[in-house]
Amino acid sequence: MKSLLFGRFLLLLPWVLIVIIVLDIDSSRPPLPALAPRGGGGSGGARPAAGRAPPRQAPEAAVPTIYAITPTYSRPVQKAELTRLANTFRQVARLHWILVEDAAARSELVSRFVAGAGLPCTHLHVPTPRRYKRPGLPRATEQRNAGLAWLRQRHQHLPPPQSGVLFFADDDNTYSLELFQEMRTTRKVSVWPVGLVGGRRYERPVVENGKVVGWYTGWRADRPFAIDMAGFAVSLQVILSHPKAVFKRRGSQPGMQESDFLKQITTVEELEPKANNCTKVLVWHTRTEKVNLANEPKYHLDTVSIEV
Ligand code: UGA
Ligand code: MN
Repeated sequence: MKSLLFGRFLLLLPWVLIVIIVLDIDSSRPPLPALAPRGGGGSGGARPAAGRAPPRQAPEAAVPTIYAITPTYSRPVQKAELTRLANTFRQVARLHWILVEDAAARSELVSRFVAGAGLPCTHLHVPTPRRYKRPGLPRATEQRNAGLAWLRQRHQHLPPPQSGVLFFADDDNTYSLELFQEMRTTRKVSVWPVGLVGGRRYERPVVENGKVVGWYTGWRADRPFAIDMAGFAVSLQVILSHPKAVFKRRGSQPGMQESDFLKQITTVEELEPKANNCTKVLVWHTRTEKVNLANEPKYHLDTVSIEV
């Protein structure tokens, strides 16, 4: 009797095991929506998953990464500016933030900030030589070039085609989320209006029959590309196929950096107008007011040391 029971047990055992394995495989498979695009990736890691199910669209690999190069320098409002930017960028899928400090070394404040920013970040630094730190001279030349060099270096050994879009995002501007949807489809170089710049409510490329034919601006209309740094994006392909295109110190005047750079990589005829044929303002050249620290004590008086 005992050996009969044992025989039956041995006969059933493999089947029981098979059922257990099949059930286990099925439950370890992730639910389908998790496969849809969700952003994240890059060096900075974790991005919180969206609450609602993302729409079914092209696989994640097909969505070009947006690289935002942000020059930044130490001043009382720096952390506030970076916080505002991070709160915007965190909501953009596949955005890689390249923060370039105007400093001889990475600061603790920015390093800590980057670590907790919650989006993919690369933290670089390069100091502006003292002789260029004067009013009337262009700003952030070395920092934008450092960002460009990092991008070229990173993609140098990867096979084409490499999809990506580069955008210069100064730390004091205001960016709508719609702007990133617009620039994401940049084929070579795309352009759009910028609010609160050039002494007017906005500047914009003038578009006829889908082509840029001129510039609406109140300041130095003779500029070949009368556009602010926040008014254009460049595809990674163009950046890689023009390895010598950089921002130049020599002979460069403020307000001409954009033109000097753009003329190395494109022509006005080639520009791709975005934002409904350049009729919508999706980015603002908001400049932060200099903070009043008149009552700040000369020596540290508080009982604690606080990062602002
Ligand atoms: C305008 C343009 O919008 C800028 O893109 C351009 O670089 C600048 O003029 C210029 O004259 O070169 P504006 O608001 O006057 O901008 O300049 P800032 O916002 O003060 O500086 C542009 C970027 O460079 C910012 O991201 C800022 O943090 C950074 N910066 C500024 C530095 O890294 N170091 C500095 O010493 C000053
Ligand atoms: Mn600015």
